[in-house]
Amino acid sequence: MCGVVGYVGQQQVLPLLLEGLRRLEYRGYDSSGVAIQRGSKPQLAVFKRQGKLENLVATLPAKVRATCGIGHTRWATHGEPNDVNAHPHTDAAAQIAVVHNGIVENASELRARLQAKGIEFQSETDTEVLAHLVAEQQTLLPEIDLTTAVRLSLKQVVGAYGILVMDEREPQTLVAARLGSPLLLGVGDKELFAASDLGALVRHTQQVVYLEEGDIATLTPKGYVITTMDAQIRQALPVTVAEDAESFDKNGFAHFTLKEIHEQVDVLQRVLGGRLDERFATARLDGLNLSAKDRLGVRRIKILGCGSAFIAASIGARTIERLARIPCDAEPAAEFRYRNPIIEEDTLYFAVSQSGETFDTLAAVQEVQRKGGTVLGIVNNVGSSIARACDGGLYLHAGAEIAVVSTKTFTATLAAFCLIGLYFARGRDLSHSEGIAVVQALQLLPKQVTQLLEQAPGYATVAKQVARFDHAYFVGRNEGYYLAMEGSLKLKEISYIHAEAYAASELKHGPLALVSETTPTIALVPEDDLVAKNLSTIAEVKARKGQVWVVGQGAVPSDNAQMQVMSAHPITTPILMALPLQLLAYYVALERGCDVDQPRNLAKSVTVE
Ligand code: G6P
Repeated sequence: MCGVVGYVGQQQVLPLLLEGLRRLEYRGYDSSGVAIQRGSKPQLAVFKRQGKLENLVATLPAKVRATCGIGHTRWATHGEPNDVNAHPHTDAAAQIAVVHNGIVENASELRARLQAKGIEFQSETDTEVLAHLVAEQQTLLPEIDLTTAVRLSLKQVVGAYGILVMDEREPQTLVAARLGSPLLLGVGDKELFAASDLGALVRHTQQVVYLEEGDIATLTPKGYVITTMDAQIRQALPVTVAEDAESFDKNGFAHFTLKEIHEQVDVLQRVLGGRLDERFATARLDGLNLSAKDRLGVRRIKILGCGSAFIAASIGARTIERLARIPCDAEPAAEFRYRNPIIEEDTLYFAVSQSGETFDTLAAVQEVQRKGGTVLGIVNNVGSSIARACDGGLYLHAGAEIAVVSTKTFTATLAAFCLIGLYFARGRDLSHSEGIAVVQALQLLPKQVTQLLEQAPGYATVAKQVARFDHAYFVGRNEGYYLAMEGSLKLKEISYIHAEAYAASELKHGPLALVSETTPTIALVPEDDLVAKNLSTIAEVKARKGQVWVVGQGAVPSDNAQMQVMSAHPITTPILMALPLQLLAYYVALERGCDVDQPRNLAKSVTVE
């Protein structure tokens, strides 16, 4: 989704903005642009282009002196991706420039009102309305400063925004405001950064102020002042972020996707680190803010998330049920929030989100809380909107995930659910020895994942064959079904092969009609009570001339088991089986020449509906 970045200080702004925009590329975008204040009597200059950042760079002047500016990567919502619709947008006199992440929902009414006053619009975007609104306020009230003009404009806006605004008549000043879209400030020495994403500024400063909903910040080289929509000052000191700037580099890997797949060894160590209690065979999860009594009172657990987070939640629900015998299920956050859900007192809710900014997940959290329910977050991005909205939770500590598709945070979420399952189970009926078996299984994970990564060349060989097809099925049972969903999602996201997931038991109820030599099947066959059933599904496929690749475990008998996973505890098996699926999708996408890290039409963080 769109990203914004801004700078005011002593340094030349263009290289800083371009570097920030490069760091935002991973979120997905279709055009980009910058606005700077150039010259000693500053004048606004705007450069913007459709397509990749290189197109923008080609339009920029070689030498330009400017120390204040804003930049944007756009992911089209209102108006097609072209040069005119790219941000920044300006007012009619081209003195004010705005970049915007979010959606102005009442843009058509505002546009009609402004057009009736004779204002001409250049673009089809909702954002352009904001630039004209600010100019209108300045005309109506000539004595007000830019911050006040922005505040009065935003009072007319319905929707979500993270915006940066500047006006050439107030040089070396940026105004930043947020509601429903992330925005943070980076505080340096006589300089300030603003961005929608930590990655865009963490290289320059680790002193960060997370703006709250409704905040308006005025930034100058001297510092920042934060005010509310009611013009009250809000004191907010910077916090030091621990984010490792290296997370934002490929570190020698061809793609972020591959780097992040390989990081899973360390990530699993981090998510489990300090949280396993061998003495009591349980997990220490103080951040959930639950007493032993609260935990006992939980009769049902409901988990919400979108995309891969929802799939991880579905496996997590099974994990909790297996261990703690508490009824548990997962639901896509957007579906949940729009069906007037029943919130029960003894149900505990979890929200899963890598970014912590997914709009639908945040809205689902707010829906539960509005009705009096408790929501705990499983979030990667520290200090994100969902993390802050939740009543407690645990962080994944997976480091920044840059590739659009989720890999390391998917398995980290599964590991987090193992901890949560163990924590609830040991507060109920799981015996000490069964608890120890789970603890030991989790401790083994980093070593097992290392071994699986060593098998990557084997998965690459399978990928060469799968890459020839245009359709594929993924099948499995229980957790294997949800893994099939994740495998098929990964494959379609980055290789554009049409892939569908089915519960293996459902194959004969319809999809079998499409199985032939042109539609292969990837079957998940863990070493469990259902091996025989899974093998008969495979036989059904083969009888229809369908080619089969098995992600099989341990001693599973199959003449197709080309993607072997070691024997493991049923709780950690889904984590291990996710690895071949991730690597398969990665190598198939490479084979088909796709843009692995930034698949078409997709955004890393979906901050609008
Ligand atoms: C987008 C991404 C997916 C991700 C989903 C949820 O659709 O492309 O990879 O799973 O959002 O994101 P979240 O940040 O909430 O986990």
